[in-house]
Amino acid sequence: MSLLELNNVSKTYENGDAVLKNIAFSLEKKECVGLVGESGCGKSTLARCILQLASIDEGEILFNGMALQNKNERNLRPYRRNIQMVMQNPAISLNPKLKIRESLLDPYYQYGAQADLRHFQYANEADFAKQLMGAVELPIALADRYPHELSGGQKQRITIARAISLEPALIILDEPTSSLDILSQASILKLLNGLREQLELSYLFISHDLSAVNAMSQKILVMKEGSIMDRFSREELFFENRHSYTKELISLYQ
Ligand SMILES: Nc1ncnc2c1ncn2[C@@H]1O[C@H](COP(=O)(O)OP(=O)(O)OP(=O)(O)O)[C@@H](O)[C@H]1O
Ligand SMILES: [Mg+2]
Repeated sequence: MSLLELNNVSKTYENGDAVLKNIAFSLEKKECVGLVGESGCGKSTLARCILQLASIDEGEILFNGMALQNKNERNLRPYRRNIQMVMQNPAISLNPKLKIRESLLDPYYQYGAQADLRHFQYANEADFAKQLMGAVELPIALADRYPHELSGGQKQRITIARAISLEPALIILDEPTSSLDILSQASILKLLNGLREQLELSYLFISHDLSAVNAMSQKILVMKEGSIMDRFSREELFFENRHSYTKELISLYQ
């Protein structure tokens, strides 16, 4: 059984615009699926639908075979812990009034020290912060600062630490490096890749940058105007039978 499976997912916004059209794909455990497409094609909308932050009009979203759509908030609670998200702008994800340590401890306050983790074992709050700062390669001293006292790359590492802290099955990464400079982008992608292997995580990696998607993902989905136009495994990127739209995206990076 796939970790995540979408069948014929469609969504139209109130204004009548069809934003997702018959989306179908699956994502296996420990796999990274890349979703690439130009601005406005519906990537973040799809992410919000999978996270049950937006509703779908048709189709189904299965997590470990269980349908998520139409579940009430109470029944979604176990899934909320298991599907985490990292967004484009870490400045918005972190509360500016809270010290980093408090933002980091948010999942710990919400769910407690979970006993069923495979990799992390947290003795107490201080230990939780220490282990997670270590996992994202930041000095523990930064935990006592406020978000505005950190660089963009450091802030994004904090949101990643928070996302991995309870070892979710799936993390949706929605343009996690788009707000960063090239060097920070590369080091964050490397960190994410390492964490996926080490913690046996699965990612849906969303980006408009085909080269980043290709570096991270085993399977790639190309989206245009709400539809998946092309799908292939990483080594098939330059195959002659790629969709003309994929070839257009490739030409942007050569
Ligand atoms: N709440 C909303 N109501 C109506 N239309 C919306 C809403 N949110 C997004 N849209 C529209 O849906 C389309 C897809 O938006 P979405 O944010 O999913 O795109 P995206 O692929 O994530 O783009 P980007 O790469 O710029 O982040 C856009 O045309 C957008 O204007
Ligand atoms: Mg988006």
